[in-house]
Amino acid sequence: MIPEEIYQKIVRYAVKAPSGHNTQPWQFARNEDGFFIKPDFSRALPLADPLHRELFISLGCLAETAMIAAQYYGYQPSVQIPDSADTIKISLQKDETTVPPDLYPYINIRQTTRNLFSGKTIPTKDLSVLQDVAGNGNIRRFTGQNEIQQFSPYISMANAVQMGNPAFKKELIQWMRFSEKEAMQKGDGLYTACSGVPSMGRMMGSLVLKSFVNAASENKRYLKQLENSAAVVLFTSSGDRAEDWINTGMIFQRFVLTATRLGLNYSFLNQPCQVAAIREKMISGLGLNSEFPQLIIRLGYSARMPYSFRRQASLRP
Ligand SMILES: Cc1cc2nc3c(=O)[nH]c(=O)nc-3n(C[C@H](O)[C@H](O)[C@H](O)COP(=O)(O)O)c2cc1C
Repeated sequence: MIPEEIYQKIVRYAVKAPSGHNTQPWQFARNEDGFFIKPDFSRALPLADPLHRELFISLGCLAETAMIAAQYYGYQPSVQIPDSADTIKISLQKDETTVPPDLYPYINIRQTTRNLFSGKTIPTKDLSVLQDVAGNGNIRRFTGQNEIQQFSPYISMANAVQMGNPAFKKELIQWMRFSEKEAMQKGDGLYTACSGVPSMGRMMGSLVLKSFVNAASENKRYLKQLENSAAVVLFTSSGDRAEDWINTGMIFQRFVLTATRLGLNYSFLNQPCQVAAIREKMISGLGLNSEFPQLIIRLGYSARMPYSFRRQASLRP
């Protein structure tokens, strides 16, 4: 058994990982040589993520973060994902020779930055560092406005589907945290300040979201974000099962921690992956053939935004 104190430290770091709508859909359970990570389906998003695809990607982000933290505390981690993918097993071996991983300090600094970016281009050497981190066949990179703008029709079509669905908006409102007080108390969800929106009460916030946030306003916001992005990165996988989603999450987390180390910011343009019909269109439009699109992010340089909150992780002995 790893000491309780170390286990808790690893978990405290691991939960800094990103998750869809900041639902933090995970549970931990300790075992003889490490711990298990399990999905918490009570925190799923039936409208935004009906197949739990992003839920499992989030678990992959968590697993990767946990392993980096474990290395920092002198353990060599290994991960096992069973076929059912209902549990991720992280085994830890004490290793005096383990050096602190270079990504560890960036676990705390990483954030989803929804600001506009400066338009500054990314040095080629940094793009190749990121390519190496992602490995072959897991990402497609788009730079220059001609390439980047290929995403705008898919984003607009997906916004129309999502924003035209009152149930989708209802789910979004349920996970919105409209003030610092609410965000802190709940320790989860989408804190409005992280998107540059001023604090307001829940009643007012819900009303504003219902009445003024629509496909047109979302298109305007996202297309402006595309315009000043230095690059767009599409994460793909060769399969489309829970195990593939967990793997994408692990690769993604290493990628964004490295981007953070390089002084880059990122945020998501995921809608085209979230709406099944638009995802299909994108597969044929971008000639993806045998690859499944999982996540889309934009990269660039920007000031940081307020950080989102985390709840106390559910720890089982
Ligand atoms: C699988 C996944 C999907 C996400 N999708 C979106 C998205 O479509 N739009 C968005 O603005 N943020 C998206 N996020 C970012 C989360 O909202 C964010 O990670 C969470 O609010 C916590 O904030 P942080 O990343 O700054 O720690 C996604 C994150 C993950 C892991």
